[in-house]
Amino acid sequence: MITLFLIALLVSSIPFSFADPDPLQDFCIADLEAQPSINGFPCKPASSVTSDDFFFDGLSKEGNTGNVFGANVTAGNVRAFPGLNTLGLSMNRVDLAPGAVNPPHIHPRSTELVLVIKGKLLVGFVTTGNVFHSKVVTRGKLFVIPRGLVHFQKNVGKGKALAFTAFDSQLPGVVNLPLTLFGSTPPIPNDVLIKGFQVDEDVVKGIKSNAIVDDDNGARGGVVHERGGERGGGGSAAEIRTMLHGLGCGCQIQSVARSGELTIDSLRFYTADS
Ligand SMILES: *[C@@H]1O[C@H](CO)[C@@H](O)[C@H](O)[C@H]1NC(C)=O
Repeated sequence: MITLFLIALLVSSIPFSFADPDPLQDFCIADLEAQPSINGFPCKPASSVTSDDFFFDGLSKEGNTGNVFGANVTAGNVRAFPGLNTLGLSMNRVDLAPGAVNPPHIHPRSTELVLVIKGKLLVGFVTTGNVFHSKVVTRGKLFVIPRGLVHFQKNVGKGKALAFTAFDSQLPGVVNLPLTLFGSTPPIPNDVLIKGFQVDEDVVKGIKSNAIVDDDNGARGGVVHERGGERGGGGSAAEIRTMLHGLGCGCQIQSVARSGELTIDSLRFYTADS
């Protein structure tokens, strides 16, 4: 009883924290070679720390958006920038081609503050009460996504879009919903997804086999341009992928699965700028 009381007292005296725990020293440059101990990375010896440990230029370059989503997230977390270790914050760069979507995802350990630098982004999240909040955000404006909620960004402008996202965690973590649900290793059993989404097996198989999850077209360099559209056509997912691969392009397919076949609803061809 006394033990329970002591535990309750201890728990209630721990300050309520929204972010990573406070650091216990000025800095602690992560030694990425060492295994994380209880929380975060052990520190590099102070004697070998230089100014370069506090500098990171990894967000200065545009990410290659030649993938199925048209979006590229460059991470500036503790793994990329060890100087952030124990400091409780990090930042990503998000490049989006016109029409691109950074698909619905969750950061389990962090709130996200989106700052748009260029273009026009639709940013939205859904609350635990199932309410959708969204806003079209333009240059210099902010949108905040509370920790752990499902959110996305879509480029709704005519040109490219660029945003920087700030996090109150050195390693926010990402749960990408399409990939998590339909592209995990090993896969979630089909019957779980069939029941969960109340759809036929063909739909689940279709999503699992299509390019949205299985991005094997590969990213290609440069700026992407929409070359034109086509409607109609069909074939197995493998046939479609082989065909696309033969064209040597970064392609985006929207497909509908019907009786084991994937019917192409819309197919957009992208080629890399030289
Ligand atoms: C993002 O851009 C980088 C740098 O161009 C590239 O190496 C990477 O493959 C791209 N990622 C995706 C998912 O396209």
